[in-house]
Amino acid sequence: MSGVASASGAGFGVWMKDVQAQTEAALGAFLPPAGREPAKLHEAMRYTVLGGGKRVRPLLAYASGALFGADPDATARAASAVEMIHAYSLVHDDMPCMDDDALRRGKPTVHVAYDEATALLVGDALQAQAFEVLAGAASVPPARLVTMLRLLAEAAGSAGMCGGQAIDLDSVGISLSLEQLERMHQLKTGAMLRVSVLLGALAGRDLAAHEQEALAAYARAIGLAFQVVDDVLDATADSATLGKTAGKDAAANKPTYVSILGLEPSKALAEQLRQQAHEALAPFGEQALRLRELADLIVQRKA
Ligand code: IPE
Ligand code: IPE
Ligand code: MG
Ligand code: MG
Ligand code: MG
Repeated sequence: MSGVASASGAGFGVWMKDVQAQTEAALGAFLPPAGREPAKLHEAMRYTVLGGGKRVRPLLAYASGALFGADPDATARAASAVEMIHAYSLVHDDMPCMDDDALRRGKPTVHVAYDEATALLVGDALQAQAFEVLAGAASVPPARLVTMLRLLAEAAGSAGMCGGQAIDLDSVGISLSLEQLERMHQLKTGAMLRVSVLLGALAGRDLAAHEQEALAAYARAIGLAFQVVDDVLDATADSATLGKTAGKDAAANKPTYVSILGLEPSKALAEQLRQQAHEALAPFGEQALRLRELADLIVQRKA
């Protein structure tokens, strides 16, 4: 069996590819088949989710799932649920009423490949599908599963990703304080990364308070680091490498870490957050290797 357990002695690159392949297979199985009516919607959902993306959120769920003894089905459901919400958030983020982007994961965005109404519905349907998939985690005791569903709802909603997106859109042309910028980033990006770590862990077992605190500190550091690096890459990488339009933030006059702190201080901050993430994992010792490596990946990635 090519499960996470059998790959745990392997190097990070091998483990990552294995988890990405498992994620692709799980998503393919959990999404409605392309031919099912309404066929355009189901085809567009599969177009959105399959065959692209770095799968950082599923990687986090698999890594923390392995740390807390989650079984393969519960892990795959947690990982697929967070990736479905994330993919929906990208579809809506790219729509003309938001960032108006034509390129995502190296392909035309959903509203370009299909139409705006389809993009809207793909997002709506993926969000609902995510909760259905997670709710099917039969090995997780009901009380813990309800906690997981609630945490996912909080991370996706107005106290999380949607709230951050609202602040983002309201902040065009405004110069935010560092505090406000951090809050926006923690909500629009950090919340979904945090819940990816938590759902993986809770798929395995209940967490002691000190474990929850350590994971929360780790998730806070990587959640912010992820969007700081996204801002840096928007300003420094090219569209072909990113698979999305580079230079959008400056063109759209968005407040970012680069626009407020400058490029080099932003990179230094990301590095500082990477170290904070490592420190937060100290209580887990060697067992947290994959989570440490994922913090490195998030900060050192080129796309
Ligand atoms: C992009 O997320 C949007 C942000 C939250 C910054 P990713 O960089 O994880 O995008 P994919 O999933 O790899 O396409
Ligand atoms: C989007 O942030 C975050 C979410 C989709 C929730 P960005 O607008 O910076 O993401 P990209 O750069 O388009 O991927
Ligand atoms: Mg945006
Ligand atoms: Mg965008
Ligand atoms: Mg961006």
